[in-house]
Amino acid sequence: MPTTLQARNWMERWDQQQEFYIADREERFAVIADVVTAVAGRPDPLIVDLGAGPGSLSVRLLDRIPAANVVAVDADPLLLGLARAAYGDRAGLRMVGHDLRTTGWVSALALPRPADAVVSTTALHWLTRPQLADVYRDCAELLRAGGVLVNGDHLAEAPDRPRLGRLTCRIAEARAARAGANRTEDWGAWWDAVGSAPELADLISQRGARPLEHSVPDVPTLDDHIALLQQARFAEVGPVWQHGDDRVLVALR
Ligand SMILES: C[S@@+](CC[C@H](N)C(=O)[O-])C[C@H]1O[C@@H](n2cnc3c(N)ncnc32)[C@H](O)[C@@H]1O
Repeated sequence: MPTTLQARNWMERWDQQQEFYIADREERFAVIADVVTAVAGRPDPLIVDLGAGPGSLSVRLLDRIPAANVVAVDADPLLLGLARAAYGDRAGLRMVGHDLRTTGWVSALALPRPADAVVSTTALHWLTRPQLADVYRDCAELLRAGGVLVNGDHLAEAPDRPRLGRLTCRIAEARAARAGANRTEDWGAWWDAVGSAPELADLISQRGARPLEHSVPDVPTLDDHIALLQQARFAEVGPVWQHGDDRVLVALR
């Protein structure tokens, strides 16, 4: 198992490789925290982080809202293990291992009360439309009335707006080039390095022979997300921030 210092170094490398794909990742985190702060209406909100990975957004939220309680859920034992090793002693943070595609994930969270906010970043594009519909319905159930769901991700335009779609991608690419995002380690290189780190061997073996991979060919569009959130009976849904196709979508319960 990694020491706290080793885990924090891997986390730092994780954050850098994620910026390969999301040049404005820190700004996206800040906007998500702005939304939670504005809507929570209390200093100690209960927040659920979906597909939290090693907890990057969760810890940013705790930095901004120190009295918050964040329940972070992810299906990858290695990423959860890194978070536990790096932040295991962090007050207000609880990591839960569960696959969002399987029933029972809500009860696995063991929430003490309805949540004030559900957040997610760069994770829900791993779900198909039907899986996303189920997750959004579950989120509407676990949130209190007036609570908020905030999803930050690359959310593509619908196919009937191809020119706008190409334009938003071009804007995101130009931003990445200006930020030098494509000069960092990418996803594959990070996982290759993890695979040969002796201190992570136990966590790698916990991933099993067929670890979770992103394998959704037909990723839901921005319009799909909005429609599914409306079907899940969120009262108001729309983007509050975007840079190209990098968006923060908000749904108010
Ligand atoms: C690109 S990573 C982003 C992680 C984190 N939110 C961040 O921004 O650093 C996508 C995450 O979603 C998680 N994930 C994907 N599908 C999932 C599922 N069905 N259930 C739980 N977690 C899932 C993956 O394990 C991974 O940690």
